[in-house]
Amino acid sequence: MRGEEIAAGLERARERTLGLTCFDEPELLRQHSPLMSPLVWDLAHVGQQEDLWLLRQGDARREGVLPAEIDGLYDAFQHPRAERPSLPLLSPTQSRGFLAEVRGRVLDGLDRAEDLFPYAMVEQHEQQHDETMLATHQLRRGPALLGPGVVLPSGDATTGGLPDALLVPAGECLVGVDGATEPSSLDNERPAHVVDVPAFRIGRVPVTNAQWQAFVDDGGYAKPQWWSARGWWHVAEAGLERPLFWTRDGARLRFGIVENIPWDEPVQHVCYFEAQAFAAWAGARLPSEIEWEKACAWDPVAGRRRRWPWGDGPPTRDRANLGGDALRPAPVGAYPAGPSAYGVEQMVGDVWEWTSSEFRPWPGFTPMLYATYSAPFFGGDFRVLRGGSWATAGGAVRPSFRNWDLPIRRQIFAGVRLAWDP
Ligand SMILES: [Fe+2]
Repeated sequence: MRGEEIAAGLERARERTLGLTCFDEPELLRQHSPLMSPLVWDLAHVGQQEDLWLLRQGDARREGVLPAEIDGLYDAFQHPRAERPSLPLLSPTQSRGFLAEVRGRVLDGLDRAEDLFPYAMVEQHEQQHDETMLATHQLRRGPALLGPGVVLPSGDATTGGLPDALLVPAGECLVGVDGATEPSSLDNERPAHVVDVPAFRIGRVPVTNAQWQAFVDDGGYAKPQWWSARGWWHVAEAGLERPLFWTRDGARLRFGIVENIPWDEPVQHVCYFEAQAFAAWAGARLPSEIEWEKACAWDPVAGRRRRWPWGDGPPTRDRANLGGDALRPAPVGAYPAGPSAYGVEQMVGDVWEWTSSEFRPWPGFTPMLYATYSAPFFGGDFRVLRGGSWATAGGAVRPSFRNWDLPIRRQIFAGVRLAWDP
């Protein structure tokens, strides 16, 4: 991590943030769903966090760029999403001015910085909010603001039956990373540790819309035998019948555009309970996060971890669908240059993949500077998601990256990869 790389990364994140918020004031002030903040909150919050971590070294009592009473409005722990629209927030214009002011001071101080990790953390934080803002855009009703997205490579026409089940033989592997090998990794990804993983099989590609439609057609949402007790209770209570944003008449809604469901795309906008039920229906199960990470990053021939599924080179357009420009997952089989050592495809990008794992610390966990990033969530009712989605920036995901969410959440760009006992 060098200073110029950090500055370029911060700049890329900012370009994206401004692109997702360059709309009329009412669009930015409105709350499109109680699950999400108004876009104007996310906009100023990325600046407030940058100010806090990079200009005030995390000490909220120190004087920041904003007066203390305004600064506090952007503290995610103090103000849950549902109440954010009623706060006296900065206007979009004020927010942009604030962001530019903070960024100017941050870049001025970058040359003198001894530890670059907080900068990498802040860049990832902004990129994470860019993905959150895309989820807000997807929940928004009204004419399309973002367009159809860039063209993606075509798939290998695997739509119908279940994906190939690739064997990952039993054996030890390294799970997690250290700061020395993966300097941008966040606290919950560390430290690297050896785990002996029993043999399992894993889907070559994620579950597609076609396969999900077969589950719907088979009455999957109406048959309790496929659901966990909690999942069945939730499906009834929430009235779930199909993935979020699929319409009753067989289309889907994507960023304000109604379109045919593309059968060869990975399904997205399904919750953990749905993922679990689908897997049971398919005679499979969800992978644990350790199984997922082994299938993604372990190279059994070399006996070492790869930085990415395909090797050590960075993500490129022919290896993974990342960064948000596509506004959709790529069809399965679209990245023949991207498989892991075990032949597993599309593990990074496209859709977050629900795992069966609860969010817990790795042995030897130590909180980072932003000490409440992970620790308050360990042991809660969260399931781990892996791999990032089409909306995730390449700099904000790695094979070791751990995302977590409640098992009922569907507004995130999450899908399913199946696993089987051998
Ligand atoms: Fe945040």
